[in-house]
Amino acid sequence: MYKIVAKKVLAPAIKQFQIQAPEIAARARPGQFVVLRIDEKGERIPLTIADYDPKGGTVILVFQEAGRTTMELGRLEEGDSILDLVGPLGKPSEIRRYGKVICIGGGVGIAAIYPIARALKEAGNEVVSIIGARCRDHLFLVEKMGEVSDALEITTDDGSAGRKGFVTGVLQDLLVGEEGIDLVVAIGPPAMMRAVAELTRPYRVRTVVSLNPIMVDGIGMCGACRVAVGGKTRFACVDGPEFNAHLVDWPVVMQRARMFREEEKRAVEDYFLGSECRCRKR
Ligand code: FAD
Ligand code: FES
Ligand code: MG
Repeated sequence: MYKIVAKKVLAPAIKQFQIQAPEIAARARPGQFVVLRIDEKGERIPLTIADYDPKGGTVILVFQEAGRTTMELGRLEEGDSILDLVGPLGKPSEIRRYGKVICIGGGVGIAAIYPIARALKEAGNEVVSIIGARCRDHLFLVEKMGEVSDALEITTDDGSAGRKGFVTGVLQDLLVGEEGIDLVVAIGPPAMMRAVAELTRPYRVRTVVSLNPIMVDGIGMCGACRVAVGGKTRFACVDGPEFNAHLVDWPVVMQRARMFREEEKRAVEDYFLGSECRCRKR
């Protein structure tokens, strides 16, 4: 069992757990993830390792309540435990001295970009970060992102904090105005990552995205997470999750993310219908 030693609400429906998991904390690297199962009847879901403390033996997970399992997870409190936590999984981010790097986090992707931005900064890069959310209340980790960035740009869809609009607006200005951008790393909703890829493509700026297809085992056995990259089938859990954004077959990524919408909707409806007696349903 993996104990939740601290819980924080970072934004509406975005929660952070610090979890006791010494073996994972000892081996985790930026860009990796875990697959967790709340209890023996739970489904397996992947979450990025947003931070790790090898000495303290804990990992940080940040999740958005997007459907049934993440809602169930959000109801757990400090002192509760999670049945399974498997990881670290996936290839770590390629951290080296590139020069000038732009790190982009959208929505809950801000949590995933944080350890990568920090590692890139520690490796001697000039890091410009762009983080975006729906509105001011949905922004989080602003201070921590500022600490690991040479410059931090903030966007909100409604203009309630930072610049009004999307992260791509700031990126566009940087691409036009600044010479020598060596790498762009973007993590967020697929539509955002695709837009970033299309923006940087004509500038031939190396661009990396972390794909988030549906995963089941997380170890390359089930094939659920397959994506097409550069005309080849790749399993995001073992070959990724980071890929060259310009080689990703985006229509396939978007289509596969929508595959189980009806089932996901029903699972949430069942969850709320049964919420008064969930203990007996298990
Ligand atoms: P559902 O209603 O079941 O699904 C909502 C949406 O989430 C679906 O439409 C689908 O796009 C996606 N999803 C559903 N099941 C899975 C699954 N088994 N695997 C992947 N995506 C799924 N979310 C975070 O909030 N924080 C993170 O740090 C984070 N890291 C991720 C890292 C990786 C490598 C991947 C692949 C996904 C990550 N996600 C993260 C997405 C997260 O796994 C899904 O939001 C979660 O599984 C939704 O489960 P649900 O039952 O609550 O929602
Ligand atoms: Fe099963 Fe990747 S999640 S192969
Ligand atoms: Mg689900």
